[in-house]
Amino acid sequence: MKIVLVAGARPNFMKISPIVKEIEKTEGIEYFLVHTGQHYDKKMSELFFKELDIPVPNANLGVGSSSHACQTADIMRGFEPILINQSPDAVLVVGDVNSTIACGLVAVKMGIKLIHVEAGLRSFDRTMPEEINRVLTDCISDYLFCTEQSGVDNLIKEGISEEKIFLVGNVMIDTLLEYKVKAEKSDILESTGIYKNNFCVLTLHRPSNVDNPLILNRIFDAVEIIQKDVPVIFPIHPRTYQNIISFGLDEKLKNLLNLKIIDPLGYLDFLKLMSCAKFIMTDSGGIQGESTMLGVPCMTLRYNTERPITIDMGLNQLVGNNVNKIVDGYKKIKNGEFKNSKIPPLWDGLTSRRIIKILENDFNK
Ligand code: UD1
Repeated sequence: MKIVLVAGARPNFMKISPIVKEIEKTEGIEYFLVHTGQHYDKKMSELFFKELDIPVPNANLGVGSSSHACQTADIMRGFEPILINQSPDAVLVVGDVNSTIACGLVAVKMGIKLIHVEAGLRSFDRTMPEEINRVLTDCISDYLFCTEQSGVDNLIKEGISEEKIFLVGNVMIDTLLEYKVKAEKSDILESTGIYKNNFCVLTLHRPSNVDNPLILNRIFDAVEIIQKDVPVIFPIHPRTYQNIISFGLDEKLKNLLNLKIIDPLGYLDFLKLMSCAKFIMTDSGGIQGESTMLGVPCMTLRYNTERPITIDMGLNQLVGNNVNKIVDGYKKIKNGEFKNSKIPPLWDGLTSRRIIKILENDFNK
């Protein structure tokens, strides 16, 4: 059995790593790894391959940044000849980035089975590019692997046949558990001059937060208040950095003495940072899941989440991008007003094993 694996953007790399390793341990399955090049900066891509022991991709499409339509089209054009050449039994895509839907579409149109890892998540907000990618990818997939029960329920409501849906847990957690001990050795606290349990980690990259100067400014108003109380460490996404400069918000940020802006971090440094933080503020999807696993309070700077289990079982709260709501969320954390967190079912480090077992059994039928 031959599977083409696709990884394109930073949040894909920690999902593909345990799948590659599981396939390498399994006899009778071979893989061909494709990097679409959606993310290409060393710190957004190459570093993750090194740290997470992902082999050098067999092909890199080198598409880079452009509009959604051009990026998606470029990936499709680059990916089709690879499938013609490799003629795999299946294509496996992860998550919800443009690379996910672009490669998925190419595969199904060539009659190749499509496997979607992290299927069924829904924010029910169709203004998010990722939500469109999620809905469309699920609709054309043959195997839908879900991280949480809400994903299964959403797919069934959308009319997807139950035989295609598997609740297997979270591959991101496989990676977190595998690299947790290694991450402890990171010296990121010393190098940024902060102390365990006495800082907040901030990440921002969602277009709905960072593409609008008024909203971005409002989020920084809240950060201004919070950083008076607790240091805020802000590993900055390239798109957010570009926008801060073009909106002229850099002067404002220079005056926030307890806000530390740093380059995007590799996996190990970031994991150490999250696990030692007093709390996290983020608009990322994956970080909500990681905070749940680590038992660290998380304020999600969005009005919805496609991962409701992080609120039901973890310490995640939705605070949107309104100053008062963000500051109120912070006060709750400061006063310790939260329930005990629990680890969601099947977030046990064995998800990629379950996925490969299911595929192996099915393909050998
Ligand atoms: C993408 C994903 C998003 C994911 C996020 C994580 C889509 C639709 N979005 O958003 O789901 O949460 O990645 O990072 O697929 N850039 C660089 N260097 C890079 C990559 C990007 O400078 O290595 C800059 C580019 O100038 C570009 C901007 O960042 O303009 C946006 O990059 P892009 O990959 O299009 O989307 P993200 O916002 O990163």
